Amino acid sequence: MNSADFCSNYLYTVNKKTKTAEDDIMILAIETSCDETAAAVVRNGREVLSNVISSQIDLHTLYGGVVPEIASRKHIEKINQVIEQALSDSGTTLDDIDAIGVTYGPGLVGALLVGVSEAKAIAYARKLPLVGVHHIEGHVSANYIENPSLEPPFLCLIVSGGHTHLVIVRDYGGFEILGRTRDDAAGEAFDKVARAIGLGYPGGPKIDRFSKEGNPEAITFPQGKLSDNPYDFSFSGVKSAVLNYLNHARMTGTAVNRADLAASFQKSVVDVLVSHTMKAAEDLKMDRIAIAGGVASNSALRNAMDNACKERGYSFFRPSPVLCTDNAAMIGCAAYYEYLKGTRHGLDLNAVPNLRLGER
Ligand code: KG4
Ligand code: ZN
Repeated sequence: MNSADFCSNYLYTVNKKTKTAEDDIMILAIETSCDETAAAVVRNGREVLSNVISSQIDLHTLYGGVVPEIASRKHIEKINQVIEQALSDSGTTLDDIDAIGVTYGPGLVGALLVGVSEAKAIAYARKLPLVGVHHIEGHVSANYIENPSLEPPFLCLIVSGGHTHLVIVRDYGGFEILGRTRDDAAGEAFDKVARAIGLGYPGGPKIDRFSKEGNPEAITFPQGKLSDNPYDFSFSGVKSAVLNYLNHARMTGTAVNRADLAASFQKSVVDVLVSHTMKAAEDLKMDRIAIAGGVASNSALRNAMDNACKERGYSFFRPSPVLCTDNAAMIGCAAYYEYLKGTRHGLDLNAVPNLRLGER
């Protein structure tokens, strides 16, 4: 039997469990795309029964950033324990689970492979459907969890360590990309600038906290505006400007107020994120705005976006900070809507490190 036959047979048998529309759908979700080993049990897409996150941050802090090889090994060490915890926290066992949802890209290939292999093993052993999820679709879906009334279409700013996209969420898992970063992702810029100022890893949360002690108006940094697409972003300019500012201070022996520097950098990034999003909302007459991804937990961005939306009478949606950074509840939510659409993956599901948004 070749692998295609094997996979189609497999899909046939797992679908034997028949469900009616009124039945609850329970998803066990797994997320290991970067440096969090996470598992969750989610009922009907939006009810999170458990959400276990084992963070590797302390380990990677020693090296100033995520070390892929260490991340993979740590995922292997933790994954079974995290899944067991997610099941026991939710008061369920694998007998109650209807499908396994798992992030299969984008992310670190070795890290993704741990989650994908684990998901395939459970799906095979328990004859359960397997639903591969795009990590960014997961981030966007985090908005559904705490906002029961939110449904597509809406405008969403996705800002993570690897992505900066402004999209219209047309449908569950259906995106129209309006703009994207031309260089660094917003989170990457936060991390690089934090390292340059000496705040270390993880940069985003540290700049967020440190900025509260600084004056955001102290230094004016450039805002990356691109003439050919008003919705695209560029953060390499502001990052270089911060590095130049530090070099100049070092060469001239001038003292640097690091809190002012952090706050001014953060303001420059937040301003451009908010202004692009508001322009898209006005141009496209969209009055429901959401944010997603790790940088969506940034307090300055949340406040600025909230104010801008209030001024214009738009509804603003943002996940709680713990649902903005990597977690498996958001993957369970996305997997549920994929499951309803009929998305099923075979045992040939592979990790796809550079999976593009909208790709299957
Ligand atoms: O979504 P995420 O957890 O992982 C990826 O999919 O990339 O995002 C991680 C990124 C990191 O760059 C991190 O520095 C940034 O999100 N981040 C923040 C904050 N919390 C996390 N950036 C700014 N302010 C924060 N509070
Ligand atoms: Zn993420």
